[in-house]
This record gives sequence, C-alpha cells and structure tokens, in this order.
Amino acid sequence: MRTLDQYRAVVLGAPLYMFHWHKDALHFLSRHREALTQRRVAVFALGPFHAEEKEFQEARGQLDKELAKFPWLTPGAIEIFGGKFDPEKLTFPHNLVPALKNMPASDIRDWTAIRDWASDLAAQSQPALA
Ligand SMILES: Cc1cc2nc3c(=O)[nH]c(=O)nc-3n(C[C@H](O)[C@H](O)[C@H](O)COP(=O)(O)O)c2cc1C
Repeated sequence: MRTLDQYRAVVLGAPLYMFHWHKDALHFLSRHREALTQRRVAVFALGPFHAEEKEFQEARGQLDKELAKFPWLTPGAIEIFGGKFDPEKLTFPHNLVPALKNMPASDIRDWTAIRDWASDLAAQSQPALA
C-alpha cells in the first residue's frame, strides 16, 4: 500500500514470531509514520497457543516492546488474540526445531472476541448518531 490518504483509521494486526511482531507490521509503521500520526490507529497481535492468562500477558509484553520502538505511535486500542499453530506448516529454520515440531496443532482464535473487538472499533469510528 503506497498511501493511506483514503483512510480515516487504521487497524494493524500481525502475528508474533520468536518474540517479535511480524516484520511487515514493523515496516508498515516505519513507512507510514506521518500518515499514522494523523489517524486513529488500533493494533492487535496473534500469538498464544493456549488460552492461559500467562501466555496472553507474555505476548502483550512482546507486543509492547515492539510498540515502544515507535514512541510517536499512540494506538487507541491494543489487543492480543490467541493464534493457530500447525507443526506441518513450519518452514525453515523452525521446521528443524524438535520442540516446535513435536508440539500439537492448535487453534485458539476466538472469533467471537475478534468480532466484538472489531465491532467496538467500528462503533467508535462512527460519528455519533443524532
Ligand atoms: C516458529 C513460531 C514462533 C512463534 N513465536 C511466537 C512468539 O514469540 N510469541 C507468541 O505469542 N506467539 C508466537 N508464535 C505463535 C504465532 O504467532 C501464531 O501461531 C499465529 O497464529 C501465526 O499466525 P500466521 O499463521 O498467520 O502466521 C509462534 C509461532 C511459530 C510457528
């Protein structure tokens, strides 16, 4: 995407990989800094394999660390969602890591939570109904 001119708000989401947010998300923030400072921004990351509070907190810590690299960014909403894991789909070099290869497949994406979050954002972006 070359320009954000036609957008009033931006929702940026990407998975966490090896303690970092996906590099495309980081590049997007760097590339669109000026436009993003003038728009409402919400961010989310996918990560946890288990529906456990501790994993969500760790993922949130990883995302916060990444966002701290962009001190000019003030997201109106930050969220972590559970992720999906399939050992069959691991690519190099992760497919060589036994601990990953032996992990069971899982999918804890909570579509209700995702839809609720998205609806709240949409409602916040609408001008108040008279
Ligand atoms: C090699 C690998 C490393 C991962 N590292 C992390 C991590 O550091 N933190 C985290 O919360 N999730 C981590 N995850 C979980 C992914 O974020 C999750 O599986 C996500 O749903 C992947 O999205 P995608 O299928 O769209 O790439 C990792 C997953 C893989 C396969």
